[in-house]
Amino acid sequence: MPLNIVVGGFFGDEGKGKICGYLAVRDRPSIAVRGGSINAGHTVVYENRMWRLRIIPSFFVNRDTRLMIAAGALVRLDVLFKEIEETGSRGRVFIDYNTGVIEERHVEEERNDPYLSKTIGSTLQGVGAAARDRVMRRLKTAKDFDVLKEMIVNVSEEVNKSIDRGELVYIEGTQGTFLSLYHGTYPYVTSRDTTASGFASEVGVGPKKVDEVIVVFKSYVTRVGEGPLPGEYSVDEMISRGLVERGTVTGRMRRAAPFNIELAKKAVTINSATQIALTKLDALFPEARNVREWSKLPYEARRWIEEIESTLKTPITLIGTGDDIMYTIDRRIELGILR
Ligand code: IMP
Ligand code: MG
Repeated sequence: MPLNIVVGGFFGDEGKGKICGYLAVRDRPSIAVRGGSINAGHTVVYENRMWRLRIIPSFFVNRDTRLMIAAGALVRLDVLFKEIEETGSRGRVFIDYNTGVIEERHVEEERNDPYLSKTIGSTLQGVGAAARDRVMRRLKTAKDFDVLKEMIVNVSEEVNKSIDRGELVYIEGTQGTFLSLYHGTYPYVTSRDTTASGFASEVGVGPKKVDEVIVVFKSYVTRVGEGPLPGEYSVDEMISRGLVERGTVTGRMRRAAPFNIELAKKAVTINSATQIALTKLDALFPEARNVREWSKLPYEARRWIEEIESTLKTPITLIGTGDDIMYTIDRRIELGILR
């Protein structure tokens, strides 16, 4: 299983940070590459600490993993250096020479754009403006910044070489399938393709090199910003069901809706999912909280999961039952995916 991609199956905030953190500790990959940009917040809780990451891969929890940022990603230098310090990963973070760099003017421009802020509900981090400049070939990239000199590599080459040596590489996608610029609920989407193929392209690996595509679903659906959300709960319903969440980057309250099997089917197809990770099971089944073995889950929870699994014809291999990355049920061995 040399190259695996983790992506979001709904509208982002499915718990990719949690799943990637677990996979880092359990699978010990040689390289983990983050795509996307700083509008995405991935939360990792481990050993009584919490990190909210916007650009460093959530795989940082494994000290032996080389952490890379894809050519197709967009960074902001202050965010990058702050996170390198917070995660103590100086010396093992590498960035592609062609990774785009967001500048203050991009942030300014988006802040003053009522269409983005009001109609779309953008996070206003300058990502779309920088992406446009990239398309217009005006954007500066990592190689234009002296402070990045020591960290610059050819990420595509490093990843392909590592895969060819038989090592394990993970790509950490951002946001979710239905925020994809092409396959999402346009125009209520982000400024890039957030599907597995999109992230492979950002990194520079061909589709035939991909072994596993792990699509992450939360046990209910949330969405921040504008755009359709089928079956949306009222705020009162969200509170009574204990589903109140706030955005990692913006602090906005997330809208919520029940698990959506139709959206999940589409996400499985678009990403060609080989595995599913299901997070926050404990929000629906409180007795599942912090459980780490399949057999110890309440019967109703197991039945619910097996029903989704058979509808989606894809194994649910990882199940999140609590905040810490280690509160994860890993069924890959019993399902014959890992030895
Ligand atoms: P933008 O990509 O920041 O311009 O935001 C466009 C839309 O995508 C808005 O609805 C945002 O709330 C949403 N969005 C962008 N990034 C994320 C994310 O990481 N998680 C959830 N929603 C996001
Ligand atoms: Mg998030």
